[in-house]
Amino acid sequence: MITNTELEYKGNLYPNQIVDYIRDKDKFYFTTDNGVILEVTVIQDRTIRFRYATENNFQPDFSYAIDPDAKRGYNHIQVLETETEYIIETAKLQILVDKKTLRKQISDLNGTIINEDELGFHWEENYEYGGNTVKMSKMTQATESFYGMGDKASHSNLKGKRVNNWVMDQYAFGKDQDPLYKAIPFYVGLHSGQAYGIFFDNSFRTQFDFAHERRNTTSFWADGGEMNYYFFYGPEMFKVVRAYSNITGVPELPPLWALGYHQSKWSYFPESNVKDIAKQFRDLKIPCDAIYLDIDYMDGFRCFTWDKNKFPDPKKMIKDLKKDGFKTVAMIDPGIKIDKDYWVYQEAMENDYFCKRADGPYMKGKVWPGECHFPDFTNPEVREWWAELYKELMTEIGVHAVWNDMNEPAVMEVPTKTAPLDTRHDYDGHPCSHRKAHNIYGMQMVRATYNGVKKYVYPKRPMVITRAAFAGTQRFSSTWTGDNVATWEHLWIANVQVQRMCMSGYSFVGSDIGGFAEQPSGELFARWVQLGVFHPFCRVHSSGDHGDQEPWSFGTEITNIVRKFIELRYQLLPYLYTMFWRYSKEGKPIIQPIVCFDQEDMQTHFRTDEFIFGEQILVCPVQEPNAQGRRMYIPRGNWYNYWNDEIVEGGKEKWVAAELDSMPLFVKEGAIVPKYPVQQYVGELEIEQLVLEVYFKIGDETSTIYEDANDGYDYENGKYSLRNFKLLGKDKELTIQQFKDGGFVTSYETFKIILHGLPFEVKCIEVDNEEVDLEEVWSAEEGSIQVSKEFTQLRITES
Ligand code: GLC
Repeated sequence: MITNTELEYKGNLYPNQIVDYIRDKDKFYFTTDNGVILEVTVIQDRTIRFRYATENNFQPDFSYAIDPDAKRGYNHIQVLETETEYIIETAKLQILVDKKTLRKQISDLNGTIINEDELGFHWEENYEYGGNTVKMSKMTQATESFYGMGDKASHSNLKGKRVNNWVMDQYAFGKDQDPLYKAIPFYVGLHSGQAYGIFFDNSFRTQFDFAHERRNTTSFWADGGEMNYYFFYGPEMFKVVRAYSNITGVPELPPLWALGYHQSKWSYFPESNVKDIAKQFRDLKIPCDAIYLDIDYMDGFRCFTWDKNKFPDPKKMIKDLKKDGFKTVAMIDPGIKIDKDYWVYQEAMENDYFCKRADGPYMKGKVWPGECHFPDFTNPEVREWWAELYKELMTEIGVHAVWNDMNEPAVMEVPTKTAPLDTRHDYDGHPCSHRKAHNIYGMQMVRATYNGVKKYVYPKRPMVITRAAFAGTQRFSSTWTGDNVATWEHLWIANVQVQRMCMSGYSFVGSDIGGFAEQPSGELFARWVQLGVFHPFCRVHSSGDHGDQEPWSFGTEITNIVRKFIELRYQLLPYLYTMFWRYSKEGKPIIQPIVCFDQEDMQTHFRTDEFIFGEQILVCPVQEPNAQGRRMYIPRGNWYNYWNDEIVEGGKEKWVAAELDSMPLFVKEGAIVPKYPVQQYVGELEIEQLVLEVYFKIGDETSTIYEDANDGYDYENGKYSLRNFKLLGKDKELTIQQFKDGGFVTSYETFKIILHGLPFEVKCIEVDNEEVDLEEVWSAEEGSIQVSKEFTQLRITES
């Protein structure tokens, strides 16, 4: 036990005994003799907020991270008082607050301790800036593991690591480099078979120590602001992420084309080059939905302008590309060139929209256009203005989506790579310095962008991409992992980062496929595409100064492999779209590390490479050169090798063959996986038949398919199609029941059901209890059945 004297010695202050307790509905206030107030809010039965004031004084309760639409409501609250503690009980949790120290202990209703304060809340006064450095320390359990925390390029299990959150432009970052582009102060802890989460909602630089300094302690602290955190109880990991997503929000459904394959480079110009790239995709029959215009489309890197030499008629170019099925995505950066003849600069100056330094001068920083000023996106008026700037770009010129970059904000030629810390921000009416606003600056920029894009593409759905992000940014934008490098190690990093982001509530994410800096070999590029097609955001992007990085840049063999995997992504679009729907509805991660899939299996706790795409497809990229396959861990249960239908039993490591044109890919037994035909772009074909790949299982399994018009908002008014399938397999019988919901009429009338692993011969098929003529519906050669999409029960037997 650390004594109070020791704490004082270290400069820390700590709460003493509780002298006052008040309950206000779902809020509980515990006040100590030395002026600390702990506010406990029961948000849901499994979600509790803890907030601490010092000097009897809370700061205004304001957060950019919290979704205003977060659901609240609990089933049960009860408070007990004993001689030594207060006990708050919900339908899921019990929270003890110690009367002498204000320390807390959170348990499930069986009394298993989930999370317990070590020193708990303590603080240090900050003489230089005012306010406190606020700290929290927790006990670490012996077998505890830690996941989440945004884009950290470290082993997925953070046990033993110390990390911090300060969004940074980190060109060509390395493994374990920290911090990177995102600040997501949220982690998932797992021990005793139970998972919980902690979200430290504080926008200052935050630090987390996961049993690094002391083996038995996990702590987190911030340079300012309040100790203000949310606790989420699972016990399943995905439920922790779901509860966090409820608080910080989820994105709306993107247009389906946003889930296609995208091609980018810094930069495709002039117009003829863009058109040539587009033509090659179609000539070579490699599916692609979007082409990106990096900064060189602008006039001298001035946002919202066009270089008319390179792009004499952007409107026509975009229209022509669209006829060919390509969407055009344009980059917009935050730095506005200081140029008295530039309209965006003029408007911002006239309206006083740029950030200023502490003593009044404008904040200045060098970016691509040279010296720039930076709009204060934390001012709601500035956000509105910024949103309106997109009007011409979207409606007149016809750009389909916007890519916000450099929004940390990145500043060149200064050691901090960002704005000076004394820069002032409005922070939506809570004026502050950059110390507090830095981590949310990019988020507020992309929020404004999202509002503008959404307004001007309406009634279509918006698509926005951002580099910098704070917790909650997922409500507005997709993201990518920044300037990575074309190395095998970075392929590993991309895999871990995307899984980690998904566990941090941010599923619409991908990496620069092939690497941004330097040039990949054809082999590395092919292996990276194999991983990338299983990432929610799938885009090749490169710095362009080391050679080409298009699917055809590495010779015919690689082109064919890349095409094969991009085609697979297009076939799996209805599956991915369903997963996105589930994510946007419930906050369930689109990709799950295998520890999230089976947390009770200790063997999954330190795995980094294998992940579950959606709920039923196991993916493991090959991450080394010259490999004919790899060892991997197959989670418990039975799995079908996607390529040859071989059934493997999980719960062990296994060598899986995967020449360069293949990769380890497995489907969970019992799964029903929907597939579209290969299209060159979303909407090229009207889907005439939906393929359902059915993987036989003895026992039952459910699968879901969500569909709608793939764009627009009719789905919000019931125009969606939801199919839930229940598969039940027995020795000599397979039944599939379908439960339908929604008023969207799909273009196809029939399913083609392809049966995998059926252990008996098909002799009889009944649709809705009526036997049908086998010759009409059954192809023994293909193992497939054609059946109306309306069936409610399909029964296949041997007799
Ligand atoms: C930044 C971005 C990169 C982009 C480049 C030029 O480095 O991360 O994606 O290509 O700026 O705009």
